[in-house]
Amino acid sequence: MHFVCNGIHPLLRLVVVCASLFNRRGAKHIWVEQSLSFSGSRLQPKVTPSPVSGPAHFHQLAGKCFIHTESTYKYEFCPFHNITQHEQSFRWNAYSGILGIWQEWEMVNNTFTGMWMRDGDACGTRNRETKVIFVCSASSKLAQVSEPSTCVYSLTFETPLVCHPHSLLVYPTLSETLQKEWDEAEQARYEGLITEQGYNNLLKGIFEDAGLLKSEKVKIKLPEVVADSGTHNSLHKCTEDLEKQREEVKRLRSLLTQHNIPFDSEQTHEPKGQTTTTVKEQHPRGDHGLLDQL
Ligand SMILES: *[C@@H]1O[C@H](CO)[C@@H](O)[C@H](O)[C@H]1NC(C)=O
Ligand SMILES: *[C@@H]1O[C@H](CO)[C@@H](O)[C@H](O)[C@H]1NC(C)=O
Repeated sequence: MHFVCNGIHPLLRLVVVCASLFNRRGAKHIWVEQSLSFSGSRLQPKVTPSPVSGPAHFHQLAGKCFIHTESTYKYEFCPFHNITQHEQSFRWNAYSGILGIWQEWEMVNNTFTGMWMRDGDACGTRNRETKVIFVCSASSKLAQVSEPSTCVYSLTFETPLVCHPHSLLVYPTLSETLQKEWDEAEQARYEGLITEQGYNNLLKGIFEDAGLLKSEKVKIKLPEVVADSGTHNSLHKCTEDLEKQREEVKRLRSLLTQHNIPFDSEQTHEPKGQTTTTVKEQHPRGDHGLLDQL
């Protein structure tokens, strides 16, 4: 006995109340509430979500959604996809919006500490964004929502997936190549060859290559090709320059010899030999350091 509310503009979302008159016994009003789907035409994501990444046992969450209602808002968290908020109100203009689209992981100390959902609906001059943090629990559910600063939301996701003490380690999720790069960065930091900032930059690059952080690198083919040929050019040029310098050293040496001026011929070879032995010695220490860290 329901009258379907066809013909009402889809932008007039949320609750559509239509009255219908029927029933032989007289003019009786039957109110039919119909919630139109929010996710259709109304919510327009600004960006596409990043690919699924991070701990393998988290990948099973892709395609699922978790709902939490707090005061008058319903929150929906779809891991690796989006977070939306729907005001539970009968007002015609009740708020419904995107709090963020899946972008990247937050990592501290070799540990995944949160999922960043960014580029949500506009909020003044910026876009809404949400960090989802994890808490060990017997079952998966969205537990808590707060807004630590304007238009930046924090959501707690309770899940058994984070209960194992090693469940959120970053290093084991990386490919062998990237693990090796991290080992090398770790060693260079240990040896004081790079600054803390240099180390963090290397790590950022590794995480970007792993797809854990959203890359700021331009992802079109052409610049890579240009960069590659640039490398070849500079390598070629470097070899040429080195050859020129060798010639120059040879020339100066013979000049000194000609004029009977003594010079220390060892000096040029010494630093090279030193570097080689140091590197050999450093490897076992660096590897050990990394094992300690894990
Ligand atoms: C949010 O993610 C869910 C699950 O993947 C999807 O069905 C829905 O269309 C998404 N909504 C928006 C507004 O992106
Ligand atoms: C990272 O780990 C080190 C050593 O275990 C610890 O001293 C430091 O407080 C940790 N930092 C954070 C932000 O957790």
